[in-house]
Amino acid sequence: MDESLQPAWPAGWTRRHLLDLESLSREEIEILLDTALQMKKLTQGCRAKVPLLSGVTTANLFFENSTRTRLSFSLAARRLGADTVDFTASTSSVSKGESLLDTAKTILAMQVDSLIVRHRAPGAPYILADNLDCCVINAGDGPHEHPTQGLLDMLTIREHRPRFEDLTVALVGDIAHSRTARSNIWGLKKLGAHVIVCGPATLVSRQWEKFGVEVAHRLDDILPRCDVLNLLRIQFERQYTRPFPSVHEYALLYAMNRQRMERAKSDILIMAPGPINRGVEITPDVADGPQSVILDQVTNGLAVRMAVLWLTCRVAQQAAV
Ligand code: CP
Repeated sequence: MDESLQPAWPAGWTRRHLLDLESLSREEIEILLDTALQMKKLTQGCRAKVPLLSGVTTANLFFENSTRTRLSFSLAARRLGADTVDFTASTSSVSKGESLLDTAKTILAMQVDSLIVRHRAPGAPYILADNLDCCVINAGDGPHEHPTQGLLDMLTIREHRPRFEDLTVALVGDIAHSRTARSNIWGLKKLGAHVIVCGPATLVSRQWEKFGVEVAHRLDDILPRCDVLNLLRIQFERQYTRPFPSVHEYALLYAMNRQRMERAKSDILIMAPGPINRGVEITPDVADGPQSVILDQVTNGLAVRMAVLWLTCRVAQQAAV
């Protein structure tokens, strides 16, 4: 392969799994972001193919629904020349009683090298990493972590604001049930940003202060200080009781809308991991407006996932030599 199409190998990277951002060092997070940027350049904006992983097979093992994460892991693998296979729990033999581990072992027996796992149980990817001889990447484990979402959010911020130490980033919404919030908090804090978690007290407890973040319950109070707003979806599917009287009241207090944009910094970045609920956490004019980088986040998801697949698979290949 043409050497100019090989990203430089980062000496500090030794992991063959990506399970969370909590256990990563600042240096490892920077390696992932730098490699993602290189991948974006090498593939001319995530469009072209570079055969860095030809001969490798990845499998998407998704026990929860997904649009962005699953499609971008598949496309990232194909951009790097890998083969990829999709598993969907609802149409699989899980309905006949097959366990997570037996399902994963069955897929690995088809000569798969890397498992990309989404599961509603926090910790499920760790069980696979502990028991199987393959790369394991966490694509979201219940409310625990979603490391590639945290990375793509940070890559998108860094493209606009390179110095995290100068930034105040607010995560707004359903913090209690959000794996995206946890991965953002770990990653952003390690890179030096000031992080605020904001939402109704029923979804944003004071306990979050233990993570070194500021807790706020009134978006209007913190808005003028924010450089970045990451608007998280209310995850009704993970809630047993309704955490606020009505969606209308939530939108009145927390939706980013035109009036609030007028009181925000003029260069504020508006982000959302998606899927977005228009009219609940964000109004359509803001979601589609000039400060929104929501679709840039999706493109950067491809770059981050190419970087994660390449770095983890290369470590596994080197160990096998
Ligand atoms: N942000 C995110 O994880 O989206 P999907 O559920 O569509 O993958």
